Parts: sequence; structure tokens; C-alpha cells
Amino acid sequence: MGELQSSTIREILKMPQTPDSVSFSAGNPSPLTFPHEDMAKIAAEIFQNDYVTALQYGITEGYEPLRAAISQRMSSKYGIGSDLDDVIVTSGGQQVIDLAIKVLVNENDTILCESPSFIGALNAFRSYNARLVGIPVDKDGMDIDSLEKALRTEPNVRLIYTIPTFHNPCGCTMSLDRRKRILELAKKYGVFILEDSPYFELRYSGEDLPTLKSMDTEGYVIFAGSFSKVIAPGIRVGFVCAHRDIVSKMTVAKQVIDVHTNLFFQILVDRYLRLGVIDGHIEKCRALYMQKRDRMLAAMDRHMAGSAAWNVPDGGLFIWAELPEGYDGLELCRRLKDRNISCVPGNTFCVDQKQVSRGFRLNFSLPSDEQIDRGIAVIGQVLSEYIRS
Ligand SMILES: Cc1ncc(COP(=O)(O)O)c(C=O)c1O
Repeated sequence: MGELQSSTIREILKMPQTPDSVSFSAGNPSPLTFPHEDMAKIAAEIFQNDYVTALQYGITEGYEPLRAAISQRMSSKYGIGSDLDDVIVTSGGQQVIDLAIKVLVNENDTILCESPSFIGALNAFRSYNARLVGIPVDKDGMDIDSLEKALRTEPNVRLIYTIPTFHNPCGCTMSLDRRKRILELAKKYGVFILEDSPYFELRYSGEDLPTLKSMDTEGYVIFAGSFSKVIAPGIRVGFVCAHRDIVSKMTVAKQVIDVHTNLFFQILVDRYLRLGVIDGHIEKCRALYMQKRDRMLAAMDRHMAGSAAWNVPDGGLFIWAELPEGYDGLELCRRLKDRNISCVPGNTFCVDQKQVSRGFRLNFSLPSDEQIDRGIAVIGQVLSEYIRS
């Protein structure tokens, strides 16, 4: 842990909240999407009728009916999971990352990951003293030629970590061709892929693509799923679907971390899934987020055109923007902080955080429409001041 620094995100999130401040830095889903009324009814029913199961110790693998419900939904809807595989419930998708490292990676082993990538994963890798090698990302996801080169040349590669669908922070999605190639490479080099996919059900445009896990016939893919973005993150319920030998080792590892995931919320998620409303609920989340994404893109067109470039993410919660050559995303975010606007500088997400990044990440799920319009207008002003200076 000695090597780990308090992240820039945390520093920026500490920005005092005033009526005029706008945060584009969080990765939080909108509370408007939390199905709290259904949850309140289910919660009352659990404490009335099933309180012993909810309040007693349970088994590490998770609440059996929920494991079955997750396996059923993932396989029937997305083709995720085969006879080789098993599913256990975890404390969020974050715990799957931790368990994968515990089971597969020794100190100084190499992990190949997109750079930029999700800070929670990078810091988990760092906390185990793994060697991180960053692979560049473009609009079609991880650069597979660079990945192949790294697989050929880097020592002791144990894991490829990727967020193929609606990447955090880049917003991009790995093309079908690259999905096929990454799987071929995993097989050729005998390396596992950790497919981290908390956003894959939040698509607003473009064609659905198969998950890597659904294309995996030989058990090379470890799929990390989560209910954080489609139910609520505070419940801390996620899951892993992977080869049963990996999952059984993960179960042993999980036992000494938290014994099992909070049973009350596991039962609650199970009951919620059984109401049969989740697909309709996700449709509503998608409609809200699509509107917010489009609102932010329209404001960016009005205020930032010419001074930055950005992608149009087909899903997820983030837009990645880049300054022109020679400018620094960190300096922009510092200037924005003085104007009570927070967004996350690109270097924070890089394997080498000291590298200068022209990028910055904007979250569109949490701010209100009014905050999006006002905040992006301020970014436009600060950007043109920065570029003129
Ligand atoms: C790419 C990615 N993976 C994993 C997580 C962890 O999610 P959770 O542990 O809440 O399921 C997040 C959260 O923002 C994320 O962005």
C-alpha cells in the first residue's frame, strides 16, 4: 500500500459543495433510477418473513436462489456462462477484480490493461505489487496489435484486464473483430481475460455486441458483473461468472475477505429479479441516460467545439474529451476547480499517472440538466481562456 497515493479523484471530490458547484467527476448512477419503492416493499417483507436467512451467516458462494437467478438471466439473455462455468455473488464488481488478482497474480507478475483504465482496478493491481503494462485504447477499444506485442515480449503475463463495453473512462466499445482477436490471443498465450462489464446493459445507440464471455468456449474469460449501475451501488451486489476451477479458488479467497456478501441485499436483489421488472427498469435507466448524454453532447457542441474533441459513447456514464496537442487535462481541471466545476484529468486513469494526458472525463448521469448546461458553458469559457493563454 506504500506505493498508493490518494487519488486525484478523491482530492477533486473534496471540492466544497456550494449552490453553484457542478460535479462531472463522479461515476455515480442517478438516484432517480433507484427502484426504492419496490425495494422498500421487498425489504419489509424480508424482515417480516425471512429475517433468519437475512440476518444469519450464509455461505460464501452467495444466496442460492440469487446465484440461480443470475445464471439464468445471464445465460438466457446474453449467452454468458457454459457447462464449464460457475457463478458466485460478490460484494460489487470491484471485489471480482480483487479476487482475480488473489487467485491468478503473484507479486511482480504482469497484468496488461487498457491505459487509460478504471482507477479502482489499477489501484487494486498496484496494491498487490503487480507489474502493470498499459495498452493504448482508441475508438474501437484496446489496440490488439499492441496487446499481441506485449504478450510476446513482457515477462510473466498472468492477466489481461479490459472494459470492452462502454469503457470507463474512454466511453469506447471494443469492435467485434477485436473481440474475436483478443480471445484468440488469450488462447494462444494461455492468459486469462478479466472482462469488467458493469455498464454493458446501458446502451443508448449502436448495435449490441456479444460479451467476450459469451464467445469464450474454453474458459479463458472471467466476467465481472454488477447491479451497481442497474439497481443501486450502495447495495454492493455483483457477481463473477468464470471457469468453475477459478470460481472455486475465488470462493476460498472471498471467505477470508468478507465471509459472504451482505445477505439482506442478496435476498432483496433476488426478490427484485423475481418481480420480473428488471428489463423494464433498465429500459427506463437507458432512456434517462440517453437524454442526459445527448444534452451534454449538445452543450459541448455549443461551447467547446474547436477547443476540444470528444467521442460519442454508445452507452455507459462517461464522455471522454481531449484538448489540442500541447495542452494538459490536469491543468484544465485545476482551473475548473477554481470555478467550482469538477471533472477528472486523464492522467489519473493512466498506468503511469505522471504522464501528461490531454484527456479529461465528464460524467453525465449525476448532474441535473441545468447543471449540465451551466457547467459545460463554464468549461467552454475556461477552455478558451486556457488555450488563449
Ligand atoms: C469499470 C468499472 N468496473 C468496476 C466498477 C465497480 O463497481 P461496483 O463494485 O460498484 O460493482 C466500476 C465502478 O464505477 C467501474 O467503473
